[in-house]
Amino acid sequence: MCGILGYTGHRESAEILLNGLEKLEYRGYDSAGLAVNDGENINVIKNKGRIKSLREKINNNLPGTCGIGHTRWATHGEPSDTNAHPLWSDDKSVVAVHNGIVENYKELKSFLGENGYKFYSQTDTEAAVKLLDYFYKRTKSPLNAITEAIKKIEGSYCFVILFKDFPDEVWGVRKDLPLIAGQGKDESFLASDVSAILQDTRQVYYLDNFEIVRLKKNDVRFFDETGHAKYKKLSTVTWDSQAAERGGFEHFMMKEIHEQARAVKDTFRSVFKNGEFDLSECNLDDESIRKISQIYVIACGSAYHAGYAAQYILEDLTGIPVRIELASEFRYRKMPLDKSALAIIISQSGETADTLAAMRLAKNHGIKTLAIVNVVGSTIAREADSVFYTLAGPEIAVATTKAYSSQLIACYILAVQFARAKNMIDEAKYKYFIDEIQKLPGKIDEILDEKERIRELAEKFVDSQNAFYLGRNIDYAVAMEGSLKMKEISYVHSEAIAAGEMKHGPISLIERGMLVTGIMTQKNLLPKIASNMLEAKSRGAFLLCIMMRGSEVLKDEADFVFQIPETEELFAATLAVIPLQLLGYYVAVARKLDVDKPRNLAKSVTVE
Ligand code: F6R
Repeated sequence: MCGILGYTGHRESAEILLNGLEKLEYRGYDSAGLAVNDGENINVIKNKGRIKSLREKINNNLPGTCGIGHTRWATHGEPSDTNAHPLWSDDKSVVAVHNGIVENYKELKSFLGENGYKFYSQTDTEAAVKLLDYFYKRTKSPLNAITEAIKKIEGSYCFVILFKDFPDEVWGVRKDLPLIAGQGKDESFLASDVSAILQDTRQVYYLDNFEIVRLKKNDVRFFDETGHAKYKKLSTVTWDSQAAERGGFEHFMMKEIHEQARAVKDTFRSVFKNGEFDLSECNLDDESIRKISQIYVIACGSAYHAGYAAQYILEDLTGIPVRIELASEFRYRKMPLDKSALAIIISQSGETADTLAAMRLAKNHGIKTLAIVNVVGSTIAREADSVFYTLAGPEIAVATTKAYSSQLIACYILAVQFARAKNMIDEAKYKYFIDEIQKLPGKIDEILDEKERIRELAEKFVDSQNAFYLGRNIDYAVAMEGSLKMKEISYVHSEAIAAGEMKHGPISLIERGMLVTGIMTQKNLLPKIASNMLEAKSRGAFLLCIMMRGSEVLKDEADFVFQIPETEELFAATLAVIPLQLLGYYVAVARKLDVDKPRNLAKSVTVE
């Protein structure tokens, strides 16, 4: 998500760190900062906004050859100068930058508060920095401070740390987020992304979870989580710098498709505390949930498709009536609105003009609004009554993948928690749903292991003009998203059809060889969709069936079957969409199109 750098060597560090951070700009960020040890003190300069303005603020006035840098993408606390990294202990003897989420920051803060610590930022990171300081003050050893602190920190993290008393050293540790150490001549580096240091060195070490690293200019040393020294093998990076930015993938879209398991896991973990969901930060306690008489889900594009799936799940689990509304329609409708409704507004960017206008309309009618948003501090996030942040991280490709998947997870969590609050499910069922959601990231990765099969299939359809995606219920919502992925990046005309509607018109478009994809995860509807698919087959269509493992329906009649791992049917959209994202992607690649920046599209639609 955020970008991290560390440097110690023979050159002035500020310039090297600024240049490295510029290499990470493509990832998206809202603030940036540096800390440099001048031999006596650690000086920090940081700001909300661009690296360019940070460079101006520093104005060659941050001397020292050992430092750390950061670009922040806000998760806890608004983008601001104060919340920007690096963050420091009270006496600035420990200064650190952080990627990830300290899940138990509230507990850590209260533990540290009891020990006299005060907090100046809204970040989760500050708790970790002060915890490092707490142990450092007691052990006088950076290594011991880190090993003790990571015993207490829960969540995902990559920390890069300066200790004032060790002016030529940079320390790092990671869990679940990348950290790479680089060795140059008389200098060494740390980075969250190899592209940031490639101009200086290609000799790198990839840290594993819980590994600790100490950089000196001629010495890069590793330790395990108990503080024992560890040998690591040096690797040579062969990618060019552009490929490195994309993590070695050909396009950001493919990189982001692969980040979905992580995005889903982070979004889940952000509200999962002590075996249950805690929606207190969304101002949703059980009593307020029980008062909701109606839900309006409002969004555009893929976010609307996530909401479309959510409508079925929310209704099924909670019994609350749900309306899914396109923001651009909702804002001009003159429908009677229920004042005790909850409006769930879904938006990756938090800036989509129609979605914002629709949310304002709901608020003007006195309806409580809950925004599911990816970008912290965005307009929708600021204006909504409460926010459930998805933790997809910055999305670069115009076609959304990981943000969509994170939106689905947020919706599942709301549905399961609402169901429990309304006594619609017992504790065993609640735990079962939690368990099923937790298994999704592993299953996403299982599907991605089979991506070559989809690539081969896609190459057969490189010259396609038309495609249909059929589904019923949640599968119809997935069909909409699959169809959008195909049309927006491959420019193949495609339509999502609620399968029962086929014979009311669209069937006349079916021609020999046309790709018809059936999403077939909802058991009670399998015979229905199977017969719709067969109607297409008998008119010459090529049938691609996306179904759960173990399902036998249409196995003989389908031209291509892609099986997804078995899962709770209510959450099947998360898995069924992955082969469809891959299909759109590979058709676009085979057609040699600009996958990450499709024609006529913008990442954020801030005009009507
Ligand atoms: C499609 C896509 C768009 C967005 C839509 C809403 O891949 O990305 O359809 O989903 O423009 O954008 P947000 O979620 O930013 O409100």
